[in-house]
Amino acid sequence: MTPMDPNTVRQRYLKYFEERGHSVIPSASLMPENDPTTLFTGSGMQPLLPYLLGEPHPKGTRLVDSQKCFRSGDIEEVGDNRHTTFFEMLGNWSLGDYGKEEQLSWFFTFLVDEIGLEPERLYVTAFTGDKELGIPRDDTSADVWEKLFAEKGIPAERVVIGTEEEGAKRGIKDKEGERIFFYDAAKNWWSRSGVPAKMPAGEPGGPDSEVFYRFDIEHDTAYGEHCHPNCDCGRFLEIGNSVFMQYKKEADGTFSKLPKQNVDFGGGLERIVMARTDTPDIIRVNHTPIISYIEEHSGKTYGKHEEDTKAFRIIADHMKAAVFLIGDGVLPSNTDQGYFVRRLIRRAVRYADALGVSESGFAAVVRPIVSMYEGAYPLLKEKVELIEKAIEDEERKFRTTLARGMREFGKLKGDTVSGKDAFQLFSTYGFPLEMTVELAHERNMMVDEAAFHQEMEEHQELSRKGSEQKFKGGLADASEVTTALHTCTHLMLAGLRKYLGDHVHQAGSNITQDRTRFDFTHHEKVSRETLDKVEEYVNEAIQKGSTVTTTIMSKDDAKQSGVEGSFWEKYPDRVTVYEVKTPDGTVYSRELCGGPHVESTDRIKGTFRITKEEASSAGVRRVKAVLHEA
Ligand code: ALA
Repeated sequence: MTPMDPNTVRQRYLKYFEERGHSVIPSASLMPENDPTTLFTGSGMQPLLPYLLGEPHPKGTRLVDSQKCFRSGDIEEVGDNRHTTFFEMLGNWSLGDYGKEEQLSWFFTFLVDEIGLEPERLYVTAFTGDKELGIPRDDTSADVWEKLFAEKGIPAERVVIGTEEEGAKRGIKDKEGERIFFYDAAKNWWSRSGVPAKMPAGEPGGPDSEVFYRFDIEHDTAYGEHCHPNCDCGRFLEIGNSVFMQYKKEADGTFSKLPKQNVDFGGGLERIVMARTDTPDIIRVNHTPIISYIEEHSGKTYGKHEEDTKAFRIIADHMKAAVFLIGDGVLPSNTDQGYFVRRLIRRAVRYADALGVSESGFAAVVRPIVSMYEGAYPLLKEKVELIEKAIEDEERKFRTTLARGMREFGKLKGDTVSGKDAFQLFSTYGFPLEMTVELAHERNMMVDEAAFHQEMEEHQELSRKGSEQKFKGGLADASEVTTALHTCTHLMLAGLRKYLGDHVHQAGSNITQDRTRFDFTHHEKVSRETLDKVEEYVNEAIQKGSTVTTTIMSKDDAKQSGVEGSFWEKYPDRVTVYEVKTPDGTVYSRELCGGPHVESTDRIKGTFRITKEEASSAGVRRVKAVLHEA
């Protein structure tokens, strides 16, 4: 069978679902907007959250896309045969439109008839049910699967497995007709924060049904006695997940039905390429131009020696991720998202050194990546020079201190690197923590990571931003506060425009439960007097009990009627406009947005106060504001 590359699989998928009534929507940025709960976009549904919660989407009830995703949590796994930090998630959604039957049939037909996978290699799972939650076993999905396999002449027996442990104990008869497997919520329930018990109030989720591809390789007993679809040995590979997003968790812990019964499908583009080429190696079939580049410049061959192969994989993944992140505006730094880009580049440089890739021009790996993706992501091409320069600068910065840092590291004695030393390597020599950990492991040393984090905390505020912990776990439980602050932020922008002028636009925002941080275009300091007026404007709109309503209109109409917005180019041609209006009809704010907002300002508790105003960058000011308890 001829190989198929990621671009072909992406195109076919979008076209296949377009032919079935779906609107193709663009991939959102890797940097989420208006979502304080996470640093990066890590799944296709994240940018669509307001619509899954019930808001009408301007493009209708059937959507399809390929979403750029970055999962920083997987950085340590990279180097094996199937993990990457950056990947594309193919996604299709039914917003209260079609259900299980269409979803499962379409995906199966796509895999088998459109991509050409052998149906014998496919195995599926479904939710085994939960008595406490009152959610029954998903036999509806199983019935659909049975029928689909029967149409291909394949018998499909169903088996209740339960947990991963039970799967490893029992094993499956995959060559003798067992094909549909029921697992518990740990495996067949999806929400951004995992199993039902972990979901915060307001979070949507539901049972799911996954499709696995079986490679023709032996089970590795290091992962359990027997193999089964959810075994981690690499024989089975999950390639797609249909989530039946039908429930919302309530504050009292119970589950209510969402206003719309949705389907949220996510499939790993790069993994489907693996299945299509029957190659259990995600890098080999998805990072070809990068591998060629490294081979050429190192004189080494990919796949020959295990250690080298791991280095190839890390470089290939990290550089692709760095290119896409910088392309979406994340420059290497010591704070927030920038810290991850820094780690990716520095780690890649170190592994490149280990392979003997010539020092000069490591940034040259950018072009092969961009040429592979410029068809689907034209913005990358426009930014290629900026990306090269950012990577070049970062590499130079790293190299100026790398040798000295390595000398310092060499001087460390004993079997543990103290938190102080690890912090010194970080702050003075730019060694990301996991690099110190890796170096330590190579020398049979440990790192006191807890003490390192404590040092970080004590030394600077950035440690809090840099660590992932704070951002884990989906919607914060006080999501109402965050949403309220989001609505206040709209009002504040309208107020700033009223008192400073129409040149004021949003240049960035970051909203948490505690405060809103808002950047806007303006060339000089804003006086306290003006800030007071802006506060008054916001509080007035709140006190009058304004309602927040949405209207869907064409982008042109919105622009013409003076709707406020920045990043227009990121929105589709039909847009949602949020309006804050008092009962007597006075409009306080009209702005382009994707939500979420409070329905009425009655839900905003407290008084709005701007606590800080300062320069952010040339021509951009930054304010921080809070809701003070009344
Ligand atoms: N949202 C689902 C996932 O990320 C499809 O797996």
